[in-house]
Amino acid sequence: TERTLVLIKPDGVERGLTGEILRRIEAKGYTFAELRKQQASAEQLAAHYAEHEGKPFYQPLVDFMLSGPVVAAVVTGNEVIKGFRSLAGATDPTGAAPGTIRGDLGRDWGEKVQKNLVHGSDSVESAEREISIWFG
Ligand code: GTP
Ligand code: MG
Repeated sequence: TERTLVLIKPDGVERGLTGEILRRIEAKGYTFAELRKQQASAEQLAAHYAEHEGKPFYQPLVDFMLSGPVVAAVVTGNEVIKGFRSLAGATDPTGAAPGTIRGDLGRDWGEKVQKNLVHGSDSVESAEREISIWFG
């Protein structure tokens, strides 16, 4: 069993999609070890998105992530890191496959790549690093 850090970004919370997104994760057979709605801090986001520092979308992304509460979860299950990224779909919702969170629910208009509903860790190392950022 593996664990991953999932965030429902402020657009997902604002659009009332928290339940729908959690339902998909749970229906896949994964378990919530931790689940908390919270306002992110600038410090958490600087740590979380350190790999993107200096890229043109970095500051807008951090500002967006501060614009409202997020739902943070530690999700556990067999191969859940890969499995959740498969559930989430491609980063750009326009190209995300139907059946995925971003493909079915993602917006297809302005700022769509930034406001793509969810985050999921991309490796065991990032998962452990990100879980410590959001859950200590
Ligand atoms: P996450 O699960 O959120 O990490 O998505 P990802 O792994 O598919 O994307 P990545 O880690 O490369 O980027 C993190 C986040 O930065 C993405 O989810 C987007 O919100 C944002 N992002 C990435 N690339 C771009 C881009 O080219 N333009 C904009 N505006 N945002 C981007
Ligand atoms: Mg990523």
